[in-house]
Amino acid sequence: MSARSTTEGGARVIEAGRPPERYARGWHCLGLAEQFKDGEPHEIEAFGTKLVVFQAAESGRLHVLNAFCPHMGGNLAHGTVKGDAVACPFHDWRWGGDGKCAGIPYAHRVPPRARTRAWRTLEENKQLFVWHDPQGAPPPEGVTIPRIEGAFSDEWSDWTWHSLRVDGANCREIVDNVVDMAHFFYVHNSFPTYFKNVFEGHVATQYMNSAPRTDMTAADTVASAGDLRSDASYYGPSYMIDHIWVEQDGATVETVLINCHYPVSPDSFVLMYGAIVKKLPGMTDEMAAAAAAETSQGLATGFEEDVAIWRNKTRIDNPLLCDQDGPVYQLRRWYEQFYVDAEDVRPEMTDRFEFEIDTERAVQVWKAEVEENLARRAAADAATAGEK
Ligand code: FES
Ligand SMILES: [Fe+2]
Repeated sequence: MSARSTTEGGARVIEAGRPPERYARGWHCLGLAEQFKDGEPHEIEAFGTKLVVFQAAESGRLHVLNAFCPHMGGNLAHGTVKGDAVACPFHDWRWGGDGKCAGIPYAHRVPPRARTRAWRTLEENKQLFVWHDPQGAPPPEGVTIPRIEGAFSDEWSDWTWHSLRVDGANCREIVDNVVDMAHFFYVHNSFPTYFKNVFEGHVATQYMNSAPRTDMTAADTVASAGDLRSDASYYGPSYMIDHIWVEQDGATVETVLINCHYPVSPDSFVLMYGAIVKKLPGMTDEMAAAAAAETSQGLATGFEEDVAIWRNKTRIDNPLLCDQDGPVYQLRRWYEQFYVDAEDVRPEMTDRFEFEIDTERAVQVWKAEVEENLARRAAADAATAGEK
């Protein structure tokens, strides 16, 4: 990022750089906890390797181990859960949730140091998380996943959940969205009117208000039909909680969205998202579930719009920014804290940083564009009517 002004005969030269070879330090969500509680081992491809997730039959706890068995390399995700251990499909060695070999049925004794890697886990918000740290340290004090009360309340719907593998892009692309106001208008057909970022410690927040696009029909956009307020925070490198309030038909619809991912390799990741919706007075469970499904469908379309951009763009370490762009470089500095050794985290990566975009110019131009689109559509409608 140092040579921002690289030019070739005056033309800016893009520095694509290289995606980092290591994976971020932090809690990574692997999905809804429930999906792993079916008595089967589950394979997860993440952090350049494979993991096995299984539920201990007696304790009921979820465990995450390296998928490859240290004996002869068998894949535990293709094995069986036996008691509180996962049994390898190759020679039936049993591995407990603590990573210790819990038994070898055909042997006199278990080699005393027989152990595989057990990953630190956390169940919160009805989701399962693993802690990844290339240096092997536990999470620092205060670095955890905040509890979302709605996830445990009857007044809210259950989670909807979707996952999508994105190949050919490093997960930094999705994090860049935190500061990118303009793409909400051009990519997602919404109309931001207020946009502010705050970064502090391991949390990066985006505050946004947006209005509906009156030039868009429901078929053109999944953006909300009413004024929307969104407070979205990344807690660490990969788990975002987004609180959304939408004014709709005289009521405020409250939603919590999760937008999270885990890296598969330096240039692929699994993106997951889900929503819960607070029931309005008189709303049945079915209606709440339908509202959550609808929100989730909107999210799905929104992410597809992003993914289409990521799949076709280049990685760029030296973006050429204008005065209406958000603090991309500061966000990337914040994000860098998860990729360097803990002792190399510098104050400028974690110190509080605030930036509010002055949206006056953008709002004025976008209003004009919306009016032009409306006028064009009215003229086209009138022409069609005239032909009849
Ligand atoms: S490879 Fe797993 S038991 Fe032999
Ligand atoms: Fe986006």
